Amino acid sequence: MSTVHVVESAPAKLNLALHVVGRRADGYHLLDSLVAFAGIGDEVRLSPGPLSLRIDGPFAAGLDAGEDNLCLRAARLAGADAAIALTKNLPVASGIGGGSADAAAVLRGLAQMGHALPGAAERLGADVPVCLLSRPARMQGTGEIVTALPGLPTLPLVLVNPGVGVSTPQVFEALQSRDSPPLPPIPGFSNADDLIGWLAQTRNDLQAAAQTVAPVIGQVIDAFHASGAGFARMSGSGATCFGLYASAAKAREAAGMLKQHGWWAVASELAPQRPPR
Ligand code: C5P
Repeated sequence: MSTVHVVESAPAKLNLALHVVGRRADGYHLLDSLVAFAGIGDEVRLSPGPLSLRIDGPFAAGLDAGEDNLCLRAARLAGADAAIALTKNLPVASGIGGGSADAAAVLRGLAQMGHALPGAAERLGADVPVCLLSRPARMQGTGEIVTALPGLPTLPLVLVNPGVGVSTPQVFEALQSRDSPPLPPIPGFSNADDLIGWLAQTRNDLQAAAQTVAPVIGQVIDAFHASGAGFARMSGSGATCFGLYASAAKAREAAGMLKQHGWWAVASELAPQRPPR
């Protein structure tokens, strides 16, 4: 067995706020989003060797390890031979980065092994550039404009996925309007109340559209509030939603309650910086 050279975490991406501010002639949507990352994620391990992909972990079955897998496409773009092992801890097609976070982790790992290809992230997908950074950022354009933010308070949170895969193109098509204002100015948040106060002035414009495709999302949001969340919203095009809590103990207790609905629920935290590997 070959030695693993590089281990990279692929943390869950959370769109804390997501405004759809326009649409390009080619149909892609112009976004303005505050993105942060959770303390949990998938894991990617790279070893030298012919290009290959092996997937394990709780959500491995939901994923195709064939040629089109974004991890393999990332390595091919970078012209790198590498044996890739992916541990899939997060639900797939669920609005929290998934394949984009995994591909970004592959790109970070390959860069450490001496294969770097500027511009590869953008070519792989709209969410890949922000996932490459993997720290709090404002994401604009179709995802290619990424501005790092100084940091966010570390906040206990719970992620819930109701087990319904939601198609991103279908959600964008279901949008009623595409002309939201840009995000309000993003201040330096010093505590949870600051952040929640700011979030209350914003939206995830995709949430109502996703709810028409998967009505259970509305039940998830209601269940978050019933479990004591100070704030709850859907991430990306769904169906994963996040809730923010006053303490890690409250988040753990809420995750237990939310699991009783038969949903995937996990307590974690907003990671102010890139989580340690
Ligand atoms: O780039 P990615 O593969 O993540 O996008 C999936 C689909 O989501 C696109 O084909 C497009 O239909 C839609 N999309 C969009 N505007 C964006 C990002 C994605 O319309 N900014």
